[in-house]
Amino acid sequence: MQTIGGQVVHGLKNGREFGFPTANVDLPTGARPPFGVYAAFIEVHDGPHAGRYQGCASIGTKPTVGDHPPNLEVFLIDFNGDLYGREISVDLAHYQRPEKRFASVDSLIAQMGDDVGQARRTLAALGPDRHGSSIEAGSVFGDAAIHNLAAAE
Ligand SMILES: Cc1cc2nc3c(=O)[nH]c(=O)nc-3n(C[C@H](O)[C@H](O)[C@H](O)COP(=O)(O)O)c2cc1C
Repeated sequence: MQTIGGQVVHGLKNGREFGFPTANVDLPTGARPPFGVYAAFIEVHDGPHAGRYQGCASIGTKPTVGDHPPNLEVFLIDFNGDLYGREISVDLAHYQRPEKRFASVDSLIAQMGDDVGQARRTLAALGPDRHGSSIEAGSVFGDAAIHNLAAAE
């Protein structure tokens, strides 16, 4: 298991238009989780929305929409609110797939819908009790993730 924490910063602002608004967090120096999509538990530490949430995180350079520095962004399931400037922790509970460059934004949006559906099912199966508990690294980063990390270097 790997948990990444940081302040929510302003992203490209496409997420809302795509139907998947995300909280963007800069990757801490030295944090090199494999690029890709994860089912995640999120903790918002401060502000009116403080609490625990479930979500679907993406780590990478968003190759479909240009060339951006690596960052982490997370869509919070069943959440609607402003998190800019808040401190959050993102617990990467399960690796779902590598990041991909899609031929069109429509294909990316369709895939994001599938990703969120899969994250919902995975997190429901893990159960709320798993939040904050240790999940073995081997179960999080599969072969695809390791391959993806090698490709990114
Ligand atoms: C669940 C999820 C999966 C994503 N998968 C990819 C991907 O495979 N390829 C990609 O280029 N971007 C991916 N993204 C990033 C989107 O390109 C990004 O959310 C969108 O451009 C909005 O970015 P913004 O919040 O900085 O505006 C993903 C985002 C999420 C939330």
